[in-house]
Amino acid sequence: MTQTNNIKVLVTGGLGYIGSHTVVELQNAGFNVVILDNLSNSTIDVLEGITKITGITPDFYSLDLRSKEDIKPFFKTHSDISGVVHFAASKAVGESVQKPLFYYQNNVTTLINVLQELKSIECQNFIFSSSCTVYGEADSLPITETSPIKPAVSPYGNTKQISEEILRDICVINRKFKTVALRYFNPIGAHSSGYIGELPLGVPQNLVPYITQTAIGVREQLPVFGDDYPTEDGTCIRDYIHVVDVAKAHVVALNRLLNSQQESNYEVFNIGTGNGSSVLQVIESFEEVTNQKLNYKIVDRRLGDVTSAYADTTKANTILGWKARFSLDDAMRDAWNWEKKIRTKK
Ligand code: UD1
Repeated sequence: MTQTNNIKVLVTGGLGYIGSHTVVELQNAGFNVVILDNLSNSTIDVLEGITKITGITPDFYSLDLRSKEDIKPFFKTHSDISGVVHFAASKAVGESVQKPLFYYQNNVTTLINVLQELKSIECQNFIFSSSCTVYGEADSLPITETSPIKPAVSPYGNTKQISEEILRDICVINRKFKTVALRYFNPIGAHSSGYIGELPLGVPQNLVPYITQTAIGVREQLPVFGDDYPTEDGTCIRDYIHVVDVAKAHVVALNRLLNSQQESNYEVFNIGTGNGSSVLQVIESFEEVTNQKLNYKIVDRRLGDVTSAYADTTKANTILGWKARFSLDDAMRDAWNWEKKIRTKK
């Protein structure tokens, strides 16, 4: 077992949705966490939420990873960082189509900047936040890690593919540098305490925040994008995974790196539940756990949606030694609890 107390871990984007839940799990596991976040898609209140849950306020620096000048002094004074969990990135698919350069700069240049700084402090343990979007419309289901990488349908998806390639190339030339890339399926839900969760800016693009905002009355009606897909009920199928399960996968991956348990210095794991749920099943789960009807309407398909995507989690279960524990109902209950809490705060 790793003695984690004095191990300093940098979490970039640590005030974001998945980042903040991961900080909680890292602190619960005893790691000494330092957060870098430019607050572009998060708020400082998240720090308070993390403190309420764990009793520890992580070290926080409001810095933008695009600026080499700004981050250099940070890495100079934190040369004792043992591992990095890199979340900092933009993630809105539609926006990435509108602003490709912004996405390449924000997601790829920042990765390069961090990696260059890590070289100077000789930190060799890196966890990268990737996505199942790299598989596109997979030829067969469930999706394994050896499924082909399909041409990206958006600049956002492309930044994930390019980032994985950059890391793989570095691992080839520097055998001491170790990376785990975690390809998340659809993270949903919130911490069961209701202190942290997802904070979508403006109109939510993702299904679950749209559902909870509709139920609370912020949105009038949930549009269900298409019911003519070749699935049982005609709606798309995804692998929805509780964000706390996703967060825990990072702790396991970090321990794997720190204990040098890797089979190769570049590893990729699917982070999902292994179960596919349709949009209508997600709505049904929400209605059941909250005991209310949701106002929704079937509308046209959304451009760029794949029909079905769910993970084969055998590799994560057996090699990484991690398994999702929470159910879809758990995630919907926690998402609803979070939505109610943030609305009553305002
Ligand atoms: C999207 C991104 C993915 C990203 C993930 C998390 C694409 C192609 N993929 O996944 O790269 O990692 O978000 O940010 O965009 N739906 C509705 N009504 C809504 C919203 C969604 O019916 O108002 C449906 C969608 O058609 C889809 C499912 O719900 O079938 C899930 O959608 P969403 O939550 O946006 O996630 P993905 O599109 O799977």
